[in-house]
Amino acid sequence: MTEVIIVHSQEEAGAIYAQAVAKLIERKPDCVLGLATGSSPLAAYRELAKIIHERHLDVSRVRGFALDEYAGLEPEHPESYRSVITRTVVEPLGLTPELVHVPNGNPDTIEHAGEEYDRAIAAAGGVDVQILGIGTDGHIGFNEPGSSLASGTRIKTLTEQTREDNARFFGGDMDKVPTHCITQGIGTIMKARHLILLAFGDGKAEAIAETVEGGVSSFCPASALQLHPHATVIVDEKAASKLRNKDYYRYAYDHKPAWQGI
Ligand code: GLP
Repeated sequence: MTEVIIVHSQEEAGAIYAQAVAKLIERKPDCVLGLATGSSPLAAYRELAKIIHERHLDVSRVRGFALDEYAGLEPEHPESYRSVITRTVVEPLGLTPELVHVPNGNPDTIEHAGEEYDRAIAAAGGVDVQILGIGTDGHIGFNEPGSSLASGTRIKTLTEQTREDNARFFGGDMDKVPTHCITQGIGTIMKARHLILLAFGDGKAEAIAETVEGGVSSFCPASALQLHPHATVIVDEKAASKLRNKDYYRYAYDHKPAWQGI
């Protein structure tokens, strides 16, 4: 079963992620982190940065692979996912920039970029922990509803809904939001050894209920998590509000032995 943890705040969720990743870094200093953009993972990165600095963890060999990138946006553009990952992950955590990869959204070379990216992840030994946000339509990475649950990294067309959701990063101007992207496929994401999905706020409640308690369907790409042997969904009360089995998730987490971790 997907483990569901209901928390009071983004900081609390972030701390759970950060503890798990810090333990991983101590055990495997060259571990591979799957990275995501969006607002949901920000507190998790902040909490992880805090632990890294407090415990003086050596992260110089930690490797990273981002989920996705807009197509046709210069890497230097402040809203390219390359820039966002540099600003929110690489710099605050002190990672080695050359070891952190973002899919290549350059239209001239995008045709083979997906296969190359999947090969690079496999050559690195696969992703140890993949952090995920979720779109209001249930997308993960940029795998919009209808995405094959076996897909590899590839080019996708963004839905109008996703472009509207993300217009806030482009001064609210829909015309500036790219129409295409390159994203790790659901099949790629499912190969990561541990998935941690974070969601906060009313706007995510429906997508979370579909993901955890709905049928497995490409119409809610995140529902593929139900097929993953080690998936953790961390939500606040609002994002959890439409879950039917809430009391059980709380009970299970409250009675979890400390040695079990997440
Ligand atoms: C974008 C990203 C996703 C992210 C989603 C939700 O579409 N490609 O990876 O999960 O936004 O973002 P937020 O966490 O800001 O709600």
